[in-house]
Amino acid sequence: MPADILIRPLHADERAAWEPLWAGYLTFYKATIAPEVSDVTWARFHDPAEPMFVLGAYVDGKLTGIVHYLYHRSCWTVGDYCYLQDLFVDSSARGLGVGRALIEAVYTNAKAAGCSRVHWLTQTHNAQARILYDQVAENSGFMQYRKIF
Ligand SMILES: CC(C)(COP(=O)(O)OP(=O)(O)OC[C@H]1O[C@@H](n2cnc3c(N)ncnc32)[C@H](O)[C@@H]1OP(=O)(O)O)[C@@H](O)C(=O)NCCC(=O)NCCS
Repeated sequence: MPADILIRPLHADERAAWEPLWAGYLTFYKATIAPEVSDVTWARFHDPAEPMFVLGAYVDGKLTGIVHYLYHRSCWTVGDYCYLQDLFVDSSARGLGVGRALIEAVYTNAKAAGCSRVHWLTQTHNAQARILYDQVAENSGFMQYRKIF
């Protein structure tokens, strides 16, 4: 990790800095969610009873990337698995190692929490993300099926 990338949890009073990156990620997926969903998500990140977390990446003191992850039960292990749900780096800071540093920070935290696996999804056509993912993890070969209610 280049020395000028700092990864740390975002504090409850840093929502204003998180919001544009979260909005950028939702725009990337052409997704719209109700504001109250973001309120609940942000609150859960800061509720010690919730297994949901946010880390931010600072480059030269500016928040340039975020990752959201959560721990969940597994029928195959005693310990939890870690699902890395959202990863986004501001377009001005891509290719600097920020995405890699965020994923590696999740690995560190998940291992420390007793998880035996970090897993995530990506779209098959997300070539840019897959360049990174192919370097830091294995492609499981599983497909996702989804039924939306
Ligand atoms: C995917 C994403 C998070 C990668 O973040 P990043 O900070 O640019 O990634 P890194 O700099 O750590 O890239 C690691 C590798 O990917 C490649 N790479 C990724 N983006 C690159 C870019 N814009 N320019 C050059 N190389 C790039 C490089 O080969 C690099 O390998 P290296 O460290 O050996 O040089 C970022 O492109 C992004 O936010 N994309 C939009 C949202 C998205 O797709 N999120 C993931 C959804 S599953």
